[in-house]
Amino acid sequence: MDGNGRWASERGLPRRDGHRAGADSVGACVEACGDLGVEFLTLYAFSSENWKRPKAEVEALMRLLEAFLKEKTGEMKEKNVRLQAIGRLDLLPASCQKRLHRAIEETSENTGLTLVLALSYGSREEIIDGIKSVVRAVREGHIDEAMIDPDLFSKHLYTRYYPDPDLLIRTSGEMRISNFLLWQISYAEIYITKKLWPDFRHDDLKEAVADYQRRHRRYGGL
Ligand code: IPE
Ligand code: MG
Repeated sequence: MDGNGRWASERGLPRRDGHRAGADSVGACVEACGDLGVEFLTLYAFSSENWKRPKAEVEALMRLLEAFLKEKTGEMKEKNVRLQAIGRLDLLPASCQKRLHRAIEETSENTGLTLVLALSYGSREEIIDGIKSVVRAVREGHIDEAMIDPDLFSKHLYTRYYPDPDLLIRTSGEMRISNFLLWQISYAEIYITKKLWPDFRHDDLKEAVADYQRRHRRYGGL
């Protein structure tokens, strides 16, 4: 979800206003996914690297996350959205963690869209955690080294309960992956739009999915 800062500076507004407008795009995209029958939506909300931003911006983002969860949990319950999260969640402020776990718990029985928030998430960190988990499993005798293959490794990642993404959307025209789901996107279709995240709404998500539907996926075959 990139481009909140640029969206704000184009308007002479503080960056946090861009993040606030970006939160409205989250609502719009969740709704569009519901309409389309999308089963999983993963949003890269805060990366491991985002901790390097100025303290005031990190704090504003954390406050926004907490307010978003507080405000939207009821709506998610009502709209059959199941909230999940991946990343080093233990690094989030305690009050955020509390809200997050509460929202996850309260929506755990829902059967519609699974909304996965990537928070304090970095793909390389996830892969390293996955390697440690496999090593532990071998050392404890639960698995044999010869059993390690892509399917088994996938089961040691934060995303073990979710399928690999079919479509990766990047806003604000940046042509990079930025440490997001590196393992999982091996065969994802990539859609890059110049639109800044706060401008990316319902119809933009539908257009991205329509574009995806016109692709011919071959997975290395013919
Ligand atoms: C993405 O927008 C929001 C988060 C990282 C949470 P940016 O803050 O990266 O916006 P730009 O890239 O400065 O425009
Ligand atoms: Mg950015």
